[in-house]
Amino acid sequence: MLQRPIAGIETSAIGLGTWAIGGWMWGGTDDDNAVAAIQASIDHGVTLIDTAPIYGFGHSETVVGKAIAGRRDAVYLATKCGLVSGTDKGEEAFHSTATTIDAEGDVIVHRYLGPESITQEVEGSLQRLQTDHIDLLQTHWQEATTPIEDTMAALEKLRDQGKIRAIGACNVLPEHMERYRAAGTLDSIQEQYSMLKRDREADDLPICIDGGIAFLAYSPLVLGLLTGKITPDRTYGEGDLRSKQKRFEADNVAKVLAMLDQFKPFAQEMGLTMGQLVIAWTLHQPGVSHVLVGARNAQQAIENVGGAVELSPEIVNQMTAILERHRPNIT
Ligand SMILES: NC(=O)c1ccc[n+]([C@@H]2O[C@H](COP(=O)([O-])OP(=O)(O)OC[C@H]3O[C@@H](n4cnc5c(N)ncnc54)[C@H](OP(=O)(O)O)[C@@H]3O)[C@@H](O)[C@H]2O)c1
Repeated sequence: MLQRPIAGIETSAIGLGTWAIGGWMWGGTDDDNAVAAIQASIDHGVTLIDTAPIYGFGHSETVVGKAIAGRRDAVYLATKCGLVSGTDKGEEAFHSTATTIDAEGDVIVHRYLGPESITQEVEGSLQRLQTDHIDLLQTHWQEATTPIEDTMAALEKLRDQGKIRAIGACNVLPEHMERYRAAGTLDSIQEQYSMLKRDREADDLPICIDGGIAFLAYSPLVLGLLTGKITPDRTYGEGDLRSKQKRFEADNVAKVLAMLDQFKPFAQEMGLTMGQLVIAWTLHQPGVSHVLVGARNAQQAIENVGGAVELSPEIVNQMTAILERHRPNIT
């Protein structure tokens, strides 16, 4: 498995994302399949696992903790903070009816990065993950009520205490990065980045390259769309966010499949599935150090690991040219 560093520690360039494993927003989950996906990933060379307290309101972290029990040292554990329920501080983010997982009924979630809240959240994560330290703690979404300097001071204190080893931020703008970096050491950022979402590339990636900051691309398969396995007639379970997204409407899916059709000769030449080819293309973009790929079961997890392959510059360039021709027609 290709290795790339985060804060000087080598981790697998392909990380397992465990949002869907929490069930919430993904129409439920199957814990046995989720544990199998995590364990198969580790068996096949994945060391980086990304989770968050909000994924299934603790459920994803609990399942990750269970799956890695006895193998903690084989894993670089990344989790997050800053999306919290049960507070009126920060900024209201969304309402959720989390009746299927740990929380019950109507839950109001706030973006809040106050020091006392982060410290409390970390204790919960450590317990659910069954560990004494988090390798990478990332602020999940940014909010304006807490100065970034205060948030960073709390994170650096947790690092000094050994509870966390590295500090990251998700969903940031360059000005956020600047403030994090002025107040401490920012080791990584995590952003939505895929063939269909490259709008921040020119802003973010040069800063990461210059500053030695790892860039963790999330949703690189666009929630499965770029595997080519989602057809226009696909239906989704109740509560699956894809059922409400324009991207997953039949006519858009057909356009995506038409683009992926043009990638098929490259997939055949390289002996890759479409998802693997897309993951490989993403890992070849300058500045993208890691991709976080979600998987529901062992089969998907094992397939996705196969995306850590080298592509020739010709293949990467030809894919990019095809992508740019199709992109204006795709949502
Ligand atoms: N920081 C943030 O704000 C943020 C936001 C979003 C995500 N993330 C992180 O990034 C991770 C990855 O992103 P993501 O989960 O949103 O999307 P993704 O990786 O683009 O897509 C994952 C989904 O695609 C389908 N899939 C994956 N591998 C497949 C395969 N080999 N064959 C067929 N289908 C396959 C599965 O869904 P089905 O089987 O149901 O089709 C899976 O749940 C998340 O899990 C999370 O850790 C972070």
